[in-house]
Amino acid sequence: MRGKSLVSIADLTPDDILQIVELSEFFEKNPQPRLLDGHVVATVFYEPSTRTRLSFETAVQRLGGRIIGFADAKTSSVRKGESLKDTILTIANYSDLIVMRHPLEGSARYAAEVSPVPIVNAGDGANQHPTQTLLDLYSIQKTQGRLDKLNIFLVGDLKFGRTVHSLIMALSHFSPRFVFISHPDLRLPREYILFLQNRNIPFREQTDFSGLEDADILYVTRVQKERFSDPIEYEKVKDFYRLTLDMLQGTKDNLKVMHPLPRVDEIASDVDSSPKAYYFQQARNGVFTRQAIIARILGLK
Ligand code: CP
Repeated sequence: MRGKSLVSIADLTPDDILQIVELSEFFEKNPQPRLLDGHVVATVFYEPSTRTRLSFETAVQRLGGRIIGFADAKTSSVRKGESLKDTILTIANYSDLIVMRHPLEGSARYAAEVSPVPIVNAGDGANQHPTQTLLDLYSIQKTQGRLDKLNIFLVGDLKFGRTVHSLIMALSHFSPRFVFISHPDLRLPREYILFLQNRNIPFREQTDFSGLEDADILYVTRVQKERFSDPIEYEKVKDFYRLTLDMLQGTKDNLKVMHPLPRVDEIASDVDSSPKAYYFQQARNGVFTRQAIIARILGLK
């Protein structure tokens, strides 16, 4: 990974993934080693973010580095018509690593091709969100004690949810059994179905929560309103699921409810009081995992 961009979770080998999970644990136990002294990291966000941007910035601060960038492209010369290429080439003059979120699928790959410094994809449209996946894997390892042979239930917007797409690809290395729960209009795209079939990974698709008593992880996602071109289509599907506390009765003791956040209405607030609700700890784990990602890419010892 040293000196390389992180664009897709498919850029990482299972060994890379396991090393980041292990390093995340190190940073959780040793939160402030000043490994980034003298380094500058840019966070360049063309789309809104709370967790990804702020946990990256916390990670850099804890490592002793400096941050530049923008949280809203409207405050930058993008507003004057500057291209993505020119923006990246400019910011690369000022920084050692660029963390970028952009609404267009493939934008992170393009940025990585033109950039002289590594690009970390903080989400490109409905495509990939690899750093979210790495913190999800760290969260799964922490709560389940392993990554392999788990029953993973994924719920919600499986069509546009980039965290789902990255997570499925990463977990495919660890013999999972998947259950996909979605409105028929928000099913997992065909390319991911084929990906699983080609690897003989067992999965089923359904529109209800049947079988939840077998789940080790229940990964809930928001319907991605910003990806719908027709607001009527969004209205049709937005309230299809709502996880409530009573639905967790009869589930396994080790079950954790995860969510990349932000949530809208898909998890009722009464679930927050359950020891099975893990989404806020999951967001916290993002700092340690992003410290690990920065350290690996910049080759910090
Ligand atoms: N999980 C996630 O990407 O959250 P933000 O959109 O707040 O960064």
